[in-house]
Amino acid sequence: MSGPGSTRRAAFAAVLLAALSGAACAEGTVLDPVTPQAGRIAGLWWFMLALGTLIYLLVLAAVAVPLWRSRRGAEPVDPGAPGGDEDADEPVRRRLIIAGGVVVPVLVVVTLVTLGSVVGRDVAPAAQDDDLVIEVVGHQFWWQVTYPDLGVVTANEIHIPTDRPVRLRLHASDVIHSFWVPALHGKIDLRPGAETALSFQADRAGTYRGRCAEYCGLSHAQMATLVIAQSPEEFEAWVREQAADAAEPDTPTRRTGQALFASSCAACHQVRGHTPDADLGPDLTHVASRRTLAAGTIPNTREDLRTWIRSPQAVKAGVAMPPADLDDEALEALLDYLEGLE
Ligand code: CUA
Repeated sequence: MSGPGSTRRAAFAAVLLAALSGAACAEGTVLDPVTPQAGRIAGLWWFMLALGTLIYLLVLAAVAVPLWRSRRGAEPVDPGAPGGDEDADEPVRRRLIIAGGVVVPVLVVVTLVTLGSVVGRDVAPAAQDDDLVIEVVGHQFWWQVTYPDLGVVTANEIHIPTDRPVRLRLHASDVIHSFWVPALHGKIDLRPGAETALSFQADRAGTYRGRCAEYCGLSHAQMATLVIAQSPEEFEAWVREQAADAAEPDTPTRRTGQALFASSCAACHQVRGHTPDADLGPDLTHVASRRTLAAGTIPNTREDLRTWIRSPQAVKAGVAMPPADLDDEALEALLDYLEGLE
């Protein structure tokens, strides 16, 4: 077939494929869970798919059988005709309508509600003593990540050790956001003025992409997060690096960049050891160690960072960061300084 219809279908299929292959780049999905909690959710999903498929086939059969019968019979079906077979079938039809329209739906709903509550309870374990506690604050449009017991503050990238229970304590600073890393757990809202919590334990190392799942403004779609599950040794090494203050700038251009940073960027961003407290934007003490910038919007390369500082709105519309009014030389010095913050 050809024509506008098939062209549209081909375009739709291409978009769908691109979206699916994009999703496949990150490890782990709803159906490839890496925590016992996500495993339970995936199990529930498969059960619902099987039940839905069964009901769909029954409905198809309920349509197909009368059609097939009427084709075999000499007389066309006339539901309005009085007398004859129509009247004899009446009790059967009534029972079918009651069973199919009332009994089965009630059973299905009761089963799904019960299963949903059981799974919901099982995947929300209470806080334990050996939990690794991580505080996550949702901002328009980034994630502030603090490890209160480890002296680590970072943004958008959450490192966790494997085989240890992790407890996220979440709230929002402005509007409602929703934290969702499909491979690890279900969605959970972050609300201003109230704390929510999420507990899970990663069974295998890997990088799992998540995103904000509650519309929160213009850049809602550019509010991604990466959860990086590492062996306990790698995680400890990461914590040691992240808990340290920023490295002192070791070249003249880096020192120029540091002065530029202190006089403008430091109003919103903190570099521990170099600038006073500030958390209107992400903590940048170890920004060079991160994989992405602007909450998963761009890779953390010098070119992308340059574009980002020059014209943040072009990269991420609605972001609070103002464009930097710097000449080329000053901008390169600032980039040198930021690249030194490993
Ligand atoms: Cu934050 Cu959507």
